[in-house]
Amino acid sequence: MIDDQVINPTSTKAWKALEKDAQRIQATTIKELFASDPTRAQRFHFEGAGISLDLSKNLIDDDVMTHLLELATETKVLERRDAMFRGDPINNSENRRVLHTALRLPRSAELVLDGTDIVAEVHETLDRMGAFSDEVRDGRWLGATGKRITDVVNIGIGGSYLGPEMAALAMRRSVSAPLRAHFIANVDGADTEKITTTLDPETTLFIVASKTFTTLETMTNAQMARDWIASVLGEDSVAHHFVAVSTNHEGVQAFGIAPTAMFGFWDWVGGRYSMDSAIGLSTMLLIGKDGFAEMLAGFHEVDQLSCDTPAENNLPLLLGLLRVWYGCFLGAQTIGVMPYASDLARLPAYLQQLQMESNGKRVDRSGTPLSYQSGAIYWGEPGTDGQHSFYQLLHQGTKLIPLDLIGFLTPLSSYRSSHDLLIANLIAQSQALAFGRSAEEVAASGVEEWQVPFRTFTGNKPSTLMFLDELTPRSLGSLIALYEHDVFTQGAVWGIDSFDQWGVELGKAMATSVSGALTDESVPLEYDPSTNAAIERYRASRRRWA
Ligand code: F6P
Repeated sequence: MIDDQVINPTSTKAWKALEKDAQRIQATTIKELFASDPTRAQRFHFEGAGISLDLSKNLIDDDVMTHLLELATETKVLERRDAMFRGDPINNSENRRVLHTALRLPRSAELVLDGTDIVAEVHETLDRMGAFSDEVRDGRWLGATGKRITDVVNIGIGGSYLGPEMAALAMRRSVSAPLRAHFIANVDGADTEKITTTLDPETTLFIVASKTFTTLETMTNAQMARDWIASVLGEDSVAHHFVAVSTNHEGVQAFGIAPTAMFGFWDWVGGRYSMDSAIGLSTMLLIGKDGFAEMLAGFHEVDQLSCDTPAENNLPLLLGLLRVWYGCFLGAQTIGVMPYASDLARLPAYLQQLQMESNGKRVDRSGTPLSYQSGAIYWGEPGTDGQHSFYQLLHQGTKLIPLDLIGFLTPLSSYRSSHDLLIANLIAQSQALAFGRSAEEVAASGVEEWQVPFRTFTGNKPSTLMFLDELTPRSLGSLIALYEHDVFTQGAVWGIDSFDQWGVELGKAMATSVSGALTDESVPLEYDPSTNAAIERYRASRRRWA
């Protein structure tokens, strides 16, 4: 068992050294760093699991990297990583193990916890998912009226939605069955209506995906979908059109889904770390069990890399330490993630939950308030869309926003020349952001003097260039695992619990209370004046249409 004493990172020698490094780095530029070291591009380039990571256009030098690695040592990041892989309950505020890494262990592996080999359990579930998805994909699983399933609707939210939806788009070109995937997450009836007004109930299969099977949004939407199927096809048809993914056996049964139509997972899989569990059933339906196995192999490759690669070349460790550097020493509040691939359009949304629900914490594992910054705000859009929208601020604004620029070396479409342009833009952006265009250069190009300040680019804007070969199930798995371990590294340095999410509870409880007050006018309004006024306003409107 790991010694779980929290080490305040600010008390380490490395932290003090990094504070000094920050002063030095703030007094130089990326341009000068390149000028003083002709080998910089090679030395800050790292590779592993099919991912190439060019860190050279970041605000770092050798001392920064050395001290960041020392910070990892002093805060026992690697010990904590080993504890996670081993199954220690490192999610201490919930007293749970954190074992999403076990979801992608090969069948031949063994991880015994409390006398049970969880790898065998994982593969048992994968086999059941595989058999079910074969049936649906081959047209052997039929709707209540004997028609084959053409549309699969995943009803779930947060971690029970963002990964599967992101993967459905990312794996668009690997879909190997005549199936379309749809997603209902928000408790906005418009989303369910889009499904019930456009799809054929006879050929639609719903996956109710919820770890707890109590989430208000999911249960509300699932009930509406169930009512739709039952009203059109009859109550007995529900078994043909609903399956569930959950850890809550009783809840699933109470909803009317038989245990045989339920695919389970375990409390040691956090919601936002669950796209490779049974929560990924919609993904498996689209790409098949072999494609899903490939994705798991991609995840596993990065798990291994994270365990086996020396710290100084360890991609997820370096990436996570870089986030700590920008947030705690250079004052960056946000990180932009820009996939130069439309098929990864939902990656930023997926990463928002992964990063921000994990590391958006204000106390450390002992409950002590942090005296330093924790998780950054993550956001992004596919390039080149973003370039014609917010990149203005990135180039000429006043904020420090490190970027992850992600590209694929092999074209994702048959339009080869557009891929050349896409990648040209990716590379050019990182170049322009880093090196800018000085006032002298602008003036020398013949621009009128009064216009020079407007057309000057200071540069010195950091970015990480990430290249993968192709967008395949395997590379997607590796990319996501890279970010999972990046998240882990940051949380371990900060001494926080990256695996709980108490911050979402207050809003949920208040919504339940407000919902009662909105619909029952006899409930006295005893909230704050603004909340009371908002409820009154809604009640008045509701009297007209309810
Ligand atoms: O928003 C909080 C949260 O608990 C997430 O962590 C989780 O992914 C999501 O809700 C959905 O939860 P469930 O899968 O239990 O419906």
